[in-house]
Amino acid sequence: VDLTLANTLRLPCKAEHFAAPATLSALRALLAQARQQGWPTTILGGGSNVLLPDHLPGLVVRPALNQWWLTAQQRCSKDHVFVHVGAGVNWHALVMATVERGLWGIENLALIPGSCGAAPVQNIGAYGAELADTLQAVQVMELATGRVDWLDAQQCKLGYRDSIFKRELADRVVITQLVLRLSRTPAPQLGYGDLAGRLASSPTPLAVANAVCAIRREKLPDPELLANAGSFFKNPLVEDQQVTRLLRRYPTMPHFPQGKGQTKLAAGWLIDQCGLKGMQDGVFGVHQHQALVLVHFGGGDRHGLLKTANYIVDQVALRFGVRLEPEPRLVNP
Ligand code: EPU
Repeated sequence: VDLTLANTLRLPCKAEHFAAPATLSALRALLAQARQQGWPTTILGGGSNVLLPDHLPGLVVRPALNQWWLTAQQRCSKDHVFVHVGAGVNWHALVMATVERGLWGIENLALIPGSCGAAPVQNIGAYGAELADTLQAVQVMELATGRVDWLDAQQCKLGYRDSIFKRELADRVVITQLVLRLSRTPAPQLGYGDLAGRLASSPTPLAVANAVCAIRREKLPDPELLANAGSFFKNPLVEDQQVTRLLRRYPTMPHFPQGKGQTKLAAGWLIDQCGLKGMQDGVFGVHQHQALVLVHFGGGDRHGLLKTANYIVDQVALRFGVRLEPEPRLVNP
């Protein structure tokens, strides 16, 4: 099965077997078959945050649990509404459906590509909000047993572009459902960048989502038109002492103190300062409006992409002594 169109970087990839189960029992049966046949199993969501190899042995599963529904909170304040969403639902579609109902909580996360099931894996975040702000629980199915289990938000160990699903539970579970807690009480978060400047006072969640979409469209290439996986590198966490030294040389460097002696730097700024914004390296390149995004003009593969990425990592390390780490997951390295 050809997965080239199933990943937004359009890296060529052939999988031995592929299935998109629409129910928990279909998923369980499929996992049992894979165990029986000895197939290694890879879980794929929207394919917008993965670096796929040319060949993937075994089974690729893309959950197609495509339902979502709302429940009112029984206890506590009536203000909250729970959203239950299957792993296969498109994230942006969910955001738009909730903001159109006047619900607050995920409006800043509009237009993030990918599926709801993938959202907790890297704790998607943008414009001052992240999934962790609203995530209540995650339903998972264990690959080894087909057993269904629930994790509460704390058990998911969500961090910056990080969670238990990238660590202890990597390659051990399939995420099948999320529960988010949204609110009817206006709670706009407009602190990031120029978001407030684009909105009237007392905006609706729909207006906030639309403003976020407009900002993203200005800076980020549409993967349908130019293959990419959003930010290619994580914003690095650096020791405060090193940041102080860097600020002496680069007083305008964006920096965001995180406490505990660490500061987050803007990887896009570091790459930009190296003069790499808009650069082209064969069929890969750095996006002209956002240096954090690598783009694929077509005809390349993962090996070539990693070569370009390593060149960027080396340039930034040479100039700033900071080591950038890729954000997308390296599948079957
Ligand atoms: N900057 C530059 N040049 C560039 C890009 C950025 O100088 O080419 C500077 C900006 O001027 C700004 C700073 O770097 O001072 C930060 O830039 P920006 O606000 O665009 O955000 P980012 O740190 O580059 C992060 C997320 C994005 C998310 C935005 C908005 C990561 C790895 N990336 O980007 O997430 O949309 O903030 O919240 O944390 C993604 O993960 O795929 C993604 C797109």
